[in-house]
Order: sequence, then structure tokens, then C-alpha cells
Amino acid sequence: MKYTITTPLYYVNDKPHLGSSYTTIACDALARFHRLNGNNVLFLTGVDEHGQKIERTAELKKLPPQVHCDDITMQYKYLWDKLNIKYDRFVRTSSPEHSIVVNDFYSKVLESDDIYMGRQSGWYCVGCEEYKDVDDSDKQPTCSIHKKDLEWRDEENLFFRLSKYQDQIESLIKKDGFISPKTRKNEIINFVSKGLKDFSISRVNLKWGINVPGNNEHTFYVWFDALLGYVSGSLKDQYSPELSNKSLANWPANIHIIGKDILRFHAVYWPAMLLSAGMNPPLSVFGHGFLTREGQKMGKSLGNVLDPIELLEYGGIDAMRWYLLRDIEFGEDGDFQMRRFVDIVNSDLSNTIGNLLNRTITMSRKWFQSNIPIDKRKLDNSKLKDISNIKINEYMKSFQQNNFKNSANAIIDLANSANLFLNDRAPWKLIKDISNKDVVAQDIYSVLESCRIIGVLLNPIVPDLSERILKQLNIDTTSVTFENSLNWGLLNPDNPLPKPNPVMVKIEYNESKIK
Ligand code: MSP
Repeated sequence: MKYTITTPLYYVNDKPHLGSSYTTIACDALARFHRLNGNNVLFLTGVDEHGQKIERTAELKKLPPQVHCDDITMQYKYLWDKLNIKYDRFVRTSSPEHSIVVNDFYSKVLESDDIYMGRQSGWYCVGCEEYKDVDDSDKQPTCSIHKKDLEWRDEENLFFRLSKYQDQIESLIKKDGFISPKTRKNEIINFVSKGLKDFSISRVNLKWGINVPGNNEHTFYVWFDALLGYVSGSLKDQYSPELSNKSLANWPANIHIIGKDILRFHAVYWPAMLLSAGMNPPLSVFGHGFLTREGQKMGKSLGNVLDPIELLEYGGIDAMRWYLLRDIEFGEDGDFQMRRFVDIVNSDLSNTIGNLLNRTITMSRKWFQSNIPIDKRKLDNSKLKDISNIKINEYMKSFQQNNFKNSANAIIDLANSANLFLNDRAPWKLIKDISNKDVVAQDIYSVLESCRIIGVLLNPIVPDLSERILKQLNIDTTSVTFENSLNWGLLNPDNPLPKPNPVMVKIEYNESKIK
């Protein structure tokens, strides 16, 4: 089955922050999960390079916009590399092939008679690149997200006939599973029920954008341009960017994962644009919450961002990926707290999982000639086997629902059960009587097998740690499919167990290290 997943295309007004890392890590985990399940995955990410916000930032830096964009794009790619983000396509909206797609798409929308010239006046937020609804009595309104003054605009723009798609959009957004989470769906239904207004898709007095063919003083509105990045990223052949159903791979997207602030663009404007061009709208849109710091949205414009590179250097890749997916309910806002970050990572990954693996391997090496023990009594009656199957089920279901937190919890539940089992059975006491050796072999085998399953399940969330765990168990990960590797009893008895190293070193709490 095909599975296309996208991150938003990030504005390049500044280097990436923890908020953008959060979305990208979540998408990467989902993409990895679907790949492991044998799906044909297209994971698309990229950058949104045009518009006034970027033009002004480049001006401030006294750089040509393209030079500025190249620099920030490089920083995004560098970070995604460091975070082991395995994307298939990286879209740049300043690329020549993207311009061709935008032009081609525009001509289809023109053919549908969905474009007209009009006049737009209103309060504009350059941070959001969006006109805002403002109370008439407010003489100098500000943006609630960026806390900056809105700018008054009154200009001739090209308009897209969004209102024409009222009925189609209404039935689309009501479809089961199109918008998640549910609270967000209601917001959008409420917005659409008030009646859709046509929106402007061009700007005058803005050079840093794609020229509108036939209207020389106009460039495309940055959102019209950027949303089409999902199309350019889906081209089978990026070098012959012609738009037709056949030229697109894996279309439409199965899921656009975005922040809640840009849900309208994705769940309303974007599907209507696609319908106008005769193309299929996405199958679903997921609007996640904001990462906050001290209760405020973390954002480039607010200057309260946590530098992901600093956090990476401090806690490491597994810590960062685990914390973000395990502690924050995907869909809800989550407050980043350094103390909690350190505690959760140390408790889950170093203690509950890491120590379990190390102490069991140490016992096995000591009592069974450095090997995985042979379980002569057969494994079918293992209590841990039953728990493992239940937890695998929970993990799978939760991942299918984009609920990373519950998937991570299922892994920790299994690890907790294995720790409890070990403490209950106390093999270090049993082994003192040699007649118990077979029983101990079975117990140790069961715990090592639980560790193997934990290692496999961790793969999409913390791929590096997963690899270290499986290596520690001396397992060749390439020979079995994900599904088969979740069957109980695959550990090969007699397999030598190398001397264990800690798979996850504890983080020392030191807030002063992070600004
Ligand atoms: N360029 C547009 C998206 C175009 S998609 C065709 C844009 N870019 S952005 O860089 O400003 O934001 C990208 C994403 O980051 C958005 O989904 C936004 O919600 C998300 N986040 C920005 N700050 C965030 C947090 N503090 N926490 C979580 N996500 C946040 O919008």
C-alpha cells in the first residue's frame, strides 16, 4: 500500500527550532512505522522560501534572498541529518521545477474559471502571511500569535473562488478521519459553516515570489505557492515537472501533519485549490498542538525558542526523539521542561530499558557460557509472552492512530513487566541450587526475548537506540520483516552474547547548559 506523509514546508526566516523538529520527528516516526509495515512510503519535507517575511529577513541581513534561503535551508538539512530524519523528498519552493508546477497548476485553475481580479483591504500579519479578522473598533490590532502590530493593506489582487467550493468542502471536512484530532475538526466545521470567502492569491509590491503569468506586477501569494510544494515533491520525475495525474507518485497525500495554526490552509483552502485543478484532495490532515516554554508558544518571532542543536548536544538524539514523542500528547499543547526531559529519559531509557538489558545479559553470560540460554521447558507458558502480545497490539493500534505517546507507553509497560518478573523470580537466588538451572534458563530467555521485542518496537521512535539494543543481543536485523520479528521466541539460543555496554548513558541535569 502507498503511504504519503508530509511535514509543513518550513519558513526560512530563521534557523529551525524545537517546534519544527517536533513535527519532523513525529512524521519520521510515522514514516518509519509504515515502511516497517511494508508500505510504499513517500515522506516529504522541505522549506517555504518566498513571501514578505523572508524578503524582509534577507533585507535586514543585507543578503540577496536566495543567498539567505540557501543558508537557512542548509541548516534545516543539517539538523534533519543529525536527528536521523529519513525523508524521501526535500522540496524547495525557490527551485525552478517548483515554479513550473505552480504555473501549470495556475493554468488549470484559470481553466476552471476560478480566478478573478479584485481588491483586498484589511489587516495583514507578515509573521503568519495572512489577513486577519479584526474588530472594526480596533485601530492598531496585533497578531495574537506573533504579538506584533498588524499592517494595513489595500491593494489589487487576484482572487481564487473559494466560495464556489462551499458544498464540496463542507462534505469533505465532515468525513470521518479527514481532520484530526476531533476538537480541531469542530473548529474547522464551525469556520466553514459561516460561509467561505474567496481569497487573494497574488501580491503586488512583492518581488521575492513566483511571477503570475500574464500579470507582471503580481507574484503568487506565498501560501498558494507553498501548498503546491506538496505537488512538486510528489513528482515522479523532478526534472520534467509537468502536471498530470500520471506524473505524480503516491498522490494524494495520506496525511499532512501540521501545527494547529495552519489547519485552515490545509483542510479548507488547499483541498479547494486541488478540486479546482481537477486533482484529488489529501486523505487526511492532522493538526498537532504547540510546544510551549513557560506557557508561551515557542516561536522564531517570539524569540523564546529552544535551540534543537544545543538540546541534541546535551541529551543526544534518542533523548530528544523519545521525550518529544513519549511525553507530549500528539494533538495537544505540551510544555517543554528541562527537569522533566532529563527525568523521563533517564527513567525510561537508561533505567527501565537499559538496565534491564544489561543486567539480564550479564546474568546470562555468567550462567550460560556467555550465550543466550536454551529454554528446554519451551516458551509457550511464559507470562511475559502474553504480556508482550498484548502490548504489541496496543502499540500497533496507537501508531495507526498517530498516538505516539500510547505506543511509547506500551513499550515501557512491557519493560516494567519484564523488570517486575525478574525481581519476582529472583534468578540470582534460584541459580544457587543447580537443579533450578532449566527454570532459570527459561526466565532469562523470556526477559531477553522481551528486550528483543522492546528493541524492535523502539525502531520508529528511537532508531539509533533500537539498533544498539539489537546489536547488544547480537541479532541480525536485516533478515526478518517487522511483523515477523514481533513473534515470540525468535532469539536464537546458543547465540553468543557480547559483553554489555550501557545502551543509554544517563543525562546529568544541568539547566545552565541550555539557554
Ligand atoms: N510555511 C508555512 C507552512 C507552509 S506548508 C505548505 C509555515 N511555516 S512555519 O515555519 O511558520 O511553521 C511550520 C510549522 O511549525 C507549523 O505547522 C507550525 O504550527 C509549527 N510550529 C511553529 N511553532 C511551533 C511550536 N512552538 N510548537 C509546535 N509546532 C510549531 O507555517
